[in-house]
Formats: sequence, C-alpha cells, structure tokens
Amino acid sequence: MPTSQDEKADLGIKISEVEPAKRRPRPPDEDKLGFGAFFSDHMLYLDYEEGRGWHSPRIEPYGPLSLDPAALALHYGQQVFDGLKAFRTKDGAVQLFRPKDYLERMNRSARRLCMPGVDVELVLEALKALVRIDSEWVPRKRGASLYIRPVTIATEAALGVKVSGEYSFFVLTGPVGAYYAEGFNLTRILVTDRYVRAVRGGIGEVKTAGNYAASLLAAEGAYAEGYTQVLWLDACNRSYVEEVGTSNIFFVVEDVLVTPPLGGSILPGVTRRSVIQLATDWGVRVEERPITIEEVIEGIGAGTLKEIFASGTAAVISPVGQIGYQGQDYTVNQGAVGDLSQRLFDEITGIQYGERPDPYGWIERVVP
Ligand code: COI
Repeated sequence: MPTSQDEKADLGIKISEVEPAKRRPRPPDEDKLGFGAFFSDHMLYLDYEEGRGWHSPRIEPYGPLSLDPAALALHYGQQVFDGLKAFRTKDGAVQLFRPKDYLERMNRSARRLCMPGVDVELVLEALKALVRIDSEWVPRKRGASLYIRPVTIATEAALGVKVSGEYSFFVLTGPVGAYYAEGFNLTRILVTDRYVRAVRGGIGEVKTAGNYAASLLAAEGAYAEGYTQVLWLDACNRSYVEEVGTSNIFFVVEDVLVTPPLGGSILPGVTRRSVIQLATDWGVRVEERPITIEEVIEGIGAGTLKEIFASGTAAVISPVGQIGYQGQDYTVNQGAVGDLSQRLFDEITGIQYGERPDPYGWIERVVP
C-alpha cells in the first residue's frame, strides 16, 4: 500500500493527518450505524478559481467549513453532490463500486448548474487516498459500508444572481448501514398527487440540494401517515410514475422489468443502470417506458404486477410491499419480497462485497 508520502508525490495532495486526540468519535456498534450519522477523520478538498482551474488538493481533518456568508451556494443554490460507497471484503480489502460513473454523473450535474466539473481520473486517485487514510472507518459488517459524499459549492461572495467564479469541492465519508429502517424489508409508499419533485427541463435529473429540499414536505406527510416514502408522479399529468423517495423505481409486469425512461426529470441512477444491465444479461426483458399509476394499481389488483422495488446507492434494492393511493392501500405480491428483487439485491451486494465475480469491471480496489 502506498504511504501518505507516495500519495503526496504522485498527486500533489497535501496531507494533514488528524492528531490522535482529535479523532472523530467512533460508532459504538456496526449494527446501529443508521445512515449519515458518523463521519470519518479526514476530508478531501480542492479549490477552484476562474482562469486558474482546480488547485490545492489536500486532505485535512474533518471539521467545519469556513465560508463567506455571501457565498453564492447559500443564496441561489449553486451546489451539486453525489454519493458512492466503499465496501470491505471478507479478506479485509476495501473496494469502490463504479466510482468513475458517480464522478462523471457529478460532472454532468455541474454542467447543468454552470459549475466546473472535476478531472475524474485525478479526483478518483485523490478519493482513493482519502479512503486509504481512513480505511479503518470502513465497516466490517456485511450490509454496512463507507458512504462517500463529494460536493461542489459556489463560494464567490456576491448577492447578484450569477454564475460563481469560485468553488470549493470537498469529500466527506462515513460508515453507514441500511438507508431505510426497514433495511431489505418491504416498504410502504404513499403516492402524492399534490406535490411534484421535478419538471422536465428543470433540474430533476441532476443531483443538487434543491431537489431534495423540494421533496421534504411531501415526505414529512408520508411519514406522518406511517409510510416509508413518497412515490412521485410527473408534474404535468400527475399520472406517470417517476421516482420513489430519493430512488429510481422498477416494476415487474408479467415477466417484464419496467422502469420510467429518463426524460429530464428523473435521476440517472448508477444502481438503476446496474439493474438494467444485470436483468438484461439474465434474459429478462427490460422496458424503459412510461408507466401510469393507474396501470400500477390495476396491475396489482389483477395480479399481473408482481414486484415493485426502488433502486439507489444508499438503499441498493428496496422492495415495496404496499402502495397507498387516494386513501387506499394496495399490497404488492401478497406482501412478499419478489424473486427478481431478491436476486438483484444478492447479485449487486455480492459484487460490491467481492463475493461474486465482477464481469463488468464495476469494482475498483482501494486497499488490497
Ligand atoms: C441514493 O443514494 O440513492 C440517494 O440519492 C440518497 C441520498 C441522497 C442519501
């Protein structure tokens, strides 16, 4: 394994290691990690200025940011982020799942918000250096992982609405367990036809804070009624299914795997892409086509709609057990996890934890 010194020489990353006494509190129990409650000791930073580009890559102890109160990100939302994971294999290695796909998606998000993208190869190397420094933070428990959150924010101090000329890119990491309290168990989802998450031509297809802010009120309403999350319909007709919570959605209709097409308002999930690839290679017919909530409800009633599941980095595959729509609950697949949901979950997590072959080259080793 390269030492910090090697990293410094290769990438020009300045590394300030955290003093032992100032280490972050360790999670007491890997069974009770939750999601996003613990943060590792170090962060990666890069700064950007117009005309100079990205500079000053550095790894520093985790801590508060210093930000001008007029920083444009705080006022007009010029911010993008992404989220990927590192997994510990049985033999103690640490590996990333599709890291370049996440960084490339983050660059696409940045373009939509007039922000600079990063050099994917370089940032990937820096990110590996960060995970290596904090490799003890990668959980050992199957089902847990190290969540990696890269973020870019506009830092120029200005109150006129404009494109910032300065940015900060930073990456924080932390050990996580299941995203939903349900884990891989069935969720209950409430269809909202009152609120919408995104419109075509807007920013729904990119990972930026505003999309998540827009989702909170509907999600709070769903929690209050005992549901796990919200099922989002399209903004124009309030009829076509788009996403579920912060995830993409899939339906097994007869023997066809159906998911809404990416049309500008739907996030191009990396897990979504992995699901489509795996299912296709297993000989399952996959259709990216519009599907209405009426078709879903009728299909559940007729028994032709056999499975519903959400896909996302945080939740991986999350089977849906019940859909609440216009005051009535509809139970999917007699309240059992479907075969395809289970198979996809097993395969994706099997690849992530190094238990199954990786024919697609999705895995990138960080610690041998
Ligand atoms: C995901 O990883 O699926 C998400 O988008 C959830 C994240 C915003 C916590």
